[in-house]
Amino acid sequence: MSDRTEGYSEITLDHFEHPRNNGVLENANAVGYMTNPVCGDSLVLMLRIEDDRIVEARWQSDGCAASLAASSLLTEMVGGVSLADASQITREAVVDALGGLPASKLHASVLAADALHHALAEYEKKRES
Ligand code: FES
Repeated sequence: MSDRTEGYSEITLDHFEHPRNNGVLENANAVGYMTNPVCGDSLVLMLRIEDDRIVEARWQSDGCAASLAASSLLTEMVGGVSLADASQITREAVVDALGGLPASKLHASVLAADALHHALAEYEKKRES
């Protein structure tokens, strides 16, 4: 294990080494952009929403192992989930699903959860207009 990933859980390492759903979602109808104010890591989360359910999610990120793993795992957490349930996903839920994060990397979960809520808010705004 390198210094960059010391203290990471098996789940976090697995998502870092084998990222899921990475790339561009061409037919996304909700997009969340987020930059972490703590460190500058960034995430673009792309969602395809149909009938109030997230049917597909992809991501592109520029950041550390923890933020890449959190982004990857988040797309698995939201796949097939209703908008109501997705809106309940918290930063803490992302950390728990990752099997925890080293204290110095806890802020990585902020990036993933906030990008999700940004995308959902953008989708609602579009729907209302
Ligand atoms: S260094 Fe990666 S989220 Fe901050």
